[in-house]
Amino acid sequence: MIRLENLTKRYGGFTAVDDVTFEARPGVVTGFLGPNGAGKSTALRMVCGLTPPTSGRVTVLGRAYRDLPTPAAHVGTLLDAAAQHAGRTGREILTLAAIAAGRPRTRVDEMLDLVGLTADESRRRVRHYSLGMRQRLGIAQALLPDPQVLVLDEPANGLDPQGIHWMRTLLAGLAAQGRTVLLSSHLLHEVELVADELVLIGRGRIVAQGTKTALLAGTGSVATTPEPARLAEALTRAGLVVRGVDGDAVSVDADGERVARVALDAALLVTDLRPAQGARLEQLFLELTGSADRSAVAA
Ligand SMILES: Nc1ncnc2c1ncn2[C@@H]1O[C@H](COP(=O)(O)OP(=O)(O)O)[C@@H](O)[C@H]1O
Ligand SMILES: [Mg+2]
Repeated sequence: MIRLENLTKRYGGFTAVDDVTFEARPGVVTGFLGPNGAGKSTALRMVCGLTPPTSGRVTVLGRAYRDLPTPAAHVGTLLDAAAQHAGRTGREILTLAAIAAGRPRTRVDEMLDLVGLTADESRRRVRHYSLGMRQRLGIAQALLPDPQVLVLDEPANGLDPQGIHWMRTLLAGLAAQGRTVLLSSHLLHEVELVADELVLIGRGRIVAQGTKTALLAGTGSVATTPEPARLAEALTRAGLVVRGVDGDAVSVDADGERVARVALDAALLVTDLRPAQGARLEQLFLELTGSADRSAVAA
């Protein structure tokens, strides 16, 4: 369990994290989502006791990070994948982590296996690693002490789609074992894939939070049909709100079952029917990105 309560960080007159309150619970992957500069890394650094809050408090497993008896054994962190010693090999880094955590050396190969780094790759120096490989190594390092709590800052950065899928499986498995997993991302799609619960932050403030299901609920469905105009008409006749027709896709404010029944009654073929995922969240996120985007400000 990680609990942030009215957590605030000011740098001079600038408020990087503004009265942030949320929980990351055991058994759940919590995604901390926000555009660049939103305050994610600052908040996560406060979780791990690296940056002192201006006000508010944060506890991990019921205590302040630095009051945990052996923090490194309880909390696995990946705060900056680029911070690893570039001159060491992946294997050396993990071996040092095993020694520091009092874990057997066999744990190194287990972790390499778990994150999909080959024996050959593990013997290369980290300076020759791709960003994706560094992320995998960072995750291995975070997991090596077998911690109950994981704090990962932008762990999917630099991973290819296959890598993101792998990460989803890995993190879901860790959560299923009752661990607390908190990760940040500046990409909605990424966090949508990986997390169960979402906390959306913009300009230091939480703007939405809840389960992914709840945040995505009520966003309707998208039906693909060879006769989009007729389906839109049938849906409207059934009293549903059609949001739009884009090519052969009809976007409607109703769940899939309702849409399927209307199509069936009207004897219309539907070739694809799916929830209009992320519509609302995406809108919210786009607004945030628009208002917080540095390039937009600069331009
Ligand atoms: N040590 C610092 N001094 C001054 N400003 C900082 C410092 N660290 C972060 N900031 C500012 O706080 C804001 C949030 O940064 P950060 O937490 O890194 O955002 P994110 O991780 O969401 O991209 C940014 O505007 C950043 O420039
Ligand atoms: Mg960051």
